[in-house]
Amino acid sequence: MSLVWRSQMSTGLIWQDEQHKEIFRRIDMLLEAIELNKGASVVKELITFLKSYSLKHFADEEAYMDSHGCRTCVRHKECHEEFKTHLNEIITLYEHQGASTMVVLRLQTWLRDWLISHIISMDKEMVLTSVADALGRGADVETTALKK
Ligand SMILES: [Fe+2]
Ligand SMILES: [Fe+2]
Repeated sequence: MSLVWRSQMSTGLIWQDEQHKEIFRRIDMLLEAIELNKGASVVKELITFLKSYSLKHFADEEAYMDSHGCRTCVRHKECHEEFKTHLNEIITLYEHQGASTMVVLRLQTWLRDWLISHIISMDKEMVLTSVADALGRGADVETTALKK
């Protein structure tokens, strides 16, 4: 089973789509390794990546929300915090157990489910409400403005 980014997941923001694709690519590496019974070998690298990349990704999204006065940003930021908390729980588990089957399976199911659901709900909503709000203020929003 692989995790593939699909065009339906596009939010319309190129930088955001590219970051999501990179996260998908890393999770897919874990899924591939699991299929080869080598999941444990990529756990450390994935955790290290997620720790830094998710912080940057969330910070970029939150800066976008702040600069666009996004109405849904409070709940969205809470979801990012929940992700960080959950990741820290798995890191603690990893520090105690190493790359156990439980750690690998928790990473696999949680990351895949959380990411897809978050992108198609909150991340898309972030862009849509920001554009709607801008239009409501009479701002001249062009499609190309979304690409920045
Ligand atoms: Fe995102
Ligand atoms: Fe987000």
